[in-house]
Amino acid sequence: APIRLADYQPPAFLVDKVSLTFRLAPNTTRVLSRIAFRRNPDGPGGPLKLDGDKLTLISAQIDGTPITPTLTGTGLEIDAPDAFTWEAEVEIDPEANTTLNGLYMSNGMYCTQCEAEGFRRITYYPDRPDVMAPFEVRIESDLPVLLSNGEEIERGDGFALWHDPWPKPAYLFALVAGELVARSDRFRTMEGRDVALNIWVRPGDEDRCDYAMDALKRSMLWDEEVYGRAYDLDVFNIVAVDDFNMGAMENKGLNIFNSRLVLASPETATDADYQRIESVIAHEYFHNWTGNRITCRDWFQLCLKEGLTVYRDQQFSGDARSHAVQRIEDVQMLRARQFPEDAGPLAHPVRPESYVEINNFYTATVYEKGAELIGMLRVLIGDAAWQQGCKLYFERHDGQACTIEDWLKVFEDASGRALSHFARWYHQAGTPRLSVSSRHEAGELILTLAQETRPTPGQPEKSPLHMPIRIGAIAPDGQEVVADTVLELTEAKQEFRLPCQTPEAVPSVLRGFSAPVILDQPLSTADKALLLAHDTDPLSRWDAGRSLGKEALMAMILDDAAPDPTYLDALGKVLSDMDLDPAFQALVLALPSDEDMAQTLAEGGATPDPLRIEAARVALSTAVAGQHRDTLANIHDSLAPTGPFSPDAGDAAKRSLRNAALALLTRIDNGDRARAQFDTASNMTDSLAALTCLLRIGDGVTEAETFRKRWQSDRLVMDKWFALKVGTAPGETGVGIARELADDPDFTWKTPNRFRAVVHALGANHSGFHAGDGSGYAFVAEWILRMDPVVPQVAARTMTVFQTFRRYDADRKALAEAALRRISEAATLSRDTGEMVRRILES
Ligand code: ARG
Ligand code: ZN
Repeated sequence: APIRLADYQPPAFLVDKVSLTFRLAPNTTRVLSRIAFRRNPDGPGGPLKLDGDKLTLISAQIDGTPITPTLTGTGLEIDAPDAFTWEAEVEIDPEANTTLNGLYMSNGMYCTQCEAEGFRRITYYPDRPDVMAPFEVRIESDLPVLLSNGEEIERGDGFALWHDPWPKPAYLFALVAGELVARSDRFRTMEGRDVALNIWVRPGDEDRCDYAMDALKRSMLWDEEVYGRAYDLDVFNIVAVDDFNMGAMENKGLNIFNSRLVLASPETATDADYQRIESVIAHEYFHNWTGNRITCRDWFQLCLKEGLTVYRDQQFSGDARSHAVQRIEDVQMLRARQFPEDAGPLAHPVRPESYVEINNFYTATVYEKGAELIGMLRVLIGDAAWQQGCKLYFERHDGQACTIEDWLKVFEDASGRALSHFARWYHQAGTPRLSVSSRHEAGELILTLAQETRPTPGQPEKSPLHMPIRIGAIAPDGQEVVADTVLELTEAKQEFRLPCQTPEAVPSVLRGFSAPVILDQPLSTADKALLLAHDTDPLSRWDAGRSLGKEALMAMILDDAAPDPTYLDALGKVLSDMDLDPAFQALVLALPSDEDMAQTLAEGGATPDPLRIEAARVALSTAVAGQHRDTLANIHDSLAPTGPFSPDAGDAAKRSLRNAALALLTRIDNGDRARAQFDTASNMTDSLAALTCLLRIGDGVTEAETFRKRWQSDRLVMDKWFALKVGTAPGETGVGIARELADDPDFTWKTPNRFRAVVHALGANHSGFHAGDGSGYAFVAEWILRMDPVVPQVAARTMTVFQTFRRYDADRKALAEAALRRISEAATLSRDTGEMVRRILES
């Protein structure tokens, strides 16, 4: 039965203190708990109810008296006095725990993942975020490194004792034990606290931690400078593990990371990896305040910590690199991942109202759209009120478990503005479509803005939202004649008048992507080219180019048109503009993705044909390369690496432009340049880029083998190899390659990273996944069924590749539906995957 926000009740009991003892053994770990409970004066009353899952209860006592609680299937229940000490001993089997949820083993090392509801697999407890308590943890084991939250207060032969003074919910609990080595450093906070920093990895990986450590120190400083938030313990530990469900986890004082988001060296990591490591290290660190010190009342409030923390890590990365490039990449990602979610059967509000399995709601909507709402809020109330509101949030709610209402209230108080209309963004699912028309009359630019949101599952009626629309206007000579202005759209349709003496001025709308909407603004190709050449807002400038590219592709897909010369010329101007950031040029040069095109076609009521989309993209790339051959060759030659590799933004930008040029040139030179680059590359970015180019043109067989031999024993690089082989396969060849790789002895599929490298990579390869005979659907379904009993969260996550299946033609739809039925009819299915398949099939 679904859990509903409307049914929220405060906990019956609060916890004053938790003491845990772990006697670690692979199959028979004993967990002893001693918990001080007190009846919640604001609670509903009733018995003590503790969550528990896959636990063997050995004994339980209340105030020292042995008791026999009633086991309920999801935990236990017992009548209890108003204040008492609970003691229990349970046995668990970490080695048999393949779910990577709770306490499990990875490469002989013990580690935990408790968010959202993994703690109940460790011991009986009120496993809900609004129960916060200080923890003391004793770990007994002969392993050399024993870690938990907070600070180590005692260490002896075969044990360690940890104390975390900051009250926290159980989902932030963590324990790690193993043969690990640390890369260590120190950071002195603005409050004068001298913090020991450690990144714990398997022996052999210690020389790949420098970048993560650097990113951590920069994150700590940034949160002090920008938000006035200092770290609050004497030690900060990060552990890298190979077997991990998601990216990383912000456990108090003991962040646990998927090793791919920690380990990096120039030879093994790409610029994209470095960038991702920097942002995830920052993200998890920033959670210390937005998530840990102030946490969520219940899991419906997940966006309270995730949307805000994504917003903060995006700001940080923008400060560290380039705001323009960061914003473009964030928008690209939102469109690629969140828009399809919001347009399909899995659409849900940023703050959902019900769920069956909360792990299914760690979504692009909660995270990325959640971050967009914060950005909009800030634009609406202005920087000063934003800063004051944040300060108020930290002051008022430190140590509490909060709701979105608490969050909005601080900004109402700080700004004096009512935010009840804006709050609708948190409740209403679906991406609004913003239609823009403009005219010029008597010295005024008149903009008519209209918004509409289509129905989503469970929400047939939609109301207009309150959205900030940043605009400007550019005259034909390239001058900005209407300066940057924020319009506030609150109704279904509104007219705005702005003084403007240039009748031919082209309105630039939705600058900075000021609201997460689909923009429908009928501009001529000439107007788009003007904005691409002259808009003062980099996001709008890039988007004008992307819109031109989409239009060109659309004509090629639907009408067999030739590549649009306006687009080709416009790209030429961007390429030869030496004042532009090369990273920006590279983004403009990248053609709209297949997902982008499928989405746009479906949105307009057409049926996307994955093979036609791919063919058009290849034809347009070839045309761009043909027309700009010399400029591109010059870029590729002149940006050849000089000196040692540096992962900094400046060098990465040059590599990205150079490799974007290579991708185009490979379309017309039979892969000569790519082969040469592959043979001489001394860093992973250039090596992988060259191999990608070759594989995309159906070449690169020997290079792929060379690459594999060289990196055979490096798990993270081999993940890239698997993903690349499947992801780049042209036409319908992806399925055959995926099948072949699934039989490879190195396809250790129980490790989520390797599974994703094949199965998700096929899901992201449009022409392969949507192969006309349904083999792509069948392959993915087969692997979901295989993964489901082993790591249900990963199986359920994989289901998202089916969320767009209703976009396609009748034959494909029937084949996808048959694959989905096979999943839904499986004899046993996890709650995770069961909920996903039901939602996808039912709407
Ligand atoms: N709080 C983590 C983060 O965003 C994500 C953990 C999600 N894990 C899960 N099993 N749902 O950094
Ligand atoms: Zn997070």
